[in-house]
Amino acid sequence: MKPDHHAKMAAQMKERLKVEELAENIDELEDVVENAFPVLLVTVLVSIFLLAIFLVRMYIRYTVENPSKNRMDGKTVLITGATSGLGKATAIELARKNARVLITGRDKIKVEAVARNIRKKTGNQHVNALVLDLANLRGIREFCEAFCKDEKYLHVLINNAAYMGPKAATDDNLERCFGVNYLGHFYLTYLLSDKLKKNAPSRVINVVSDSYAIGQLDFDDIALNKGYDVFKAYARSKYAMMLWNLEHHRRTYSSCIWTFAVHPGACATELLRNYPGLTGNLLRIVSRIMFKAPEDGCQTIVYLAVADGLREFSGKTFANCKVIKTQDRIKDKEVAKELWNISAHLCGFEPDTPYEEQESTEAKETTTPDSPTADIAAAAAVSEPKKDK
Ligand SMILES: NC(=O)c1ccc[n+]([C@@H]2O[C@H](COP(=O)([O-])OP(=O)(O)OC[C@H]3O[C@@H](n4cnc5c(N)ncnc54)[C@H](OP(=O)(O)O)[C@@H]3O)[C@@H](O)[C@H]2O)c1
Repeated sequence: MKPDHHAKMAAQMKERLKVEELAENIDELEDVVENAFPVLLVTVLVSIFLLAIFLVRMYIRYTVENPSKNRMDGKTVLITGATSGLGKATAIELARKNARVLITGRDKIKVEAVARNIRKKTGNQHVNALVLDLANLRGIREFCEAFCKDEKYLHVLINNAAYMGPKAATDDNLERCFGVNYLGHFYLTYLLSDKLKKNAPSRVINVVSDSYAIGQLDFDDIALNKGYDVFKAYARSKYAMMLWNLEHHRRTYSSCIWTFAVHPGACATELLRNYPGLTGNLLRIVSRIMFKAPEDGCQTIVYLAVADGLREFSGKTFANCKVIKTQDRIKDKEVAKELWNISAHLCGFEPDTPYEEQESTEAKETTTPDSPTADIAAAAAVSEPKKDK
């Protein structure tokens, strides 16, 4: 054989070896891809999931800070339920603006400790603790009598306290969400209206929730005896607050009391503490990870308490320091009026009597047998009442 021929064969062999090596490599690569695919897929899906959670969290936590730099020197603010969460955060912000801040809670020792803490934190010595249980109408009346006697001023009333939890009754045997979140504030505001009028222009700020959108109000079942669901009961109380917010505006705007509703957004507070079962545990964990800090959630409440130029927005609902659109049913005057009338009867006063003509003893009428008030109270009474704190 010629040397040329040898060289040619060697080259061909080399070429074939290369092709075989390449084929082997491709096979190996295919194996690797095949094995890695599930891992790759899981990685991509987990990344998308985490990104989605991150975006939802950003959306939930989105906050517009109170843009007003106004101070509150010489102004008195009363905040219900300020021992924790949004009420406490609002109290701190307003104390920093030098308001005289009166905070309420049910437990004297607890609320006094919070007031002391706020004084220390803000350096504002005009932060005082008051005891108020909104689950007791007589207690509310006594609170207001003492308040009107002791306090000269009230410029801003922030109706913030709330209950969310298993079916329970107030001391007056009313469904607790309705009784504390809505009716207690309705009565408190009614009894403090003279004080607010005297200090006009004054403001009533009702802390609501966008959950109102699913709230249903059946005037024949105020006690929710037909069926109880924790979230629906809470949503109903907020729906009632929304109706009342606008009705209160209609009735008191001419007295220079501006009324606002505010949705603070989902906040990591103590609100879910009574939410029962596994759902409650999950919600509490999710709220810690996903929800706003109370310091962020309170910004719109603070804005409504301090900002200028809000008069024309009385009756409106705010979130992130802006007016938001609400459901049309909130504007239903007939439903709002009926709710007002029933609420007045439950609290024991005549619905259409001007505030200043009401007698301080009227609430006692609630218990008069065979009176229309007693009928309404009986119809609203919770069966199998359970007291809950
Ligand atoms: N957190 C959220 O995601 C969220 C969202 C939308 C709206 N909101 C609204 O924001 C407001 C503040 O709630 P939060 O989230 O800050 O909850 P929170 O931390 O549980 O505060 C609620 C406050 O209400 C008080 N309270 C409960 N029952 C009361 C009663 N019977 N009488 C008087 N005070 C009572 C509690 O005080 P004591 O137990 O010390 O008496 C507590 O200070 C509520 O109106 C709530 O509906 C909250």
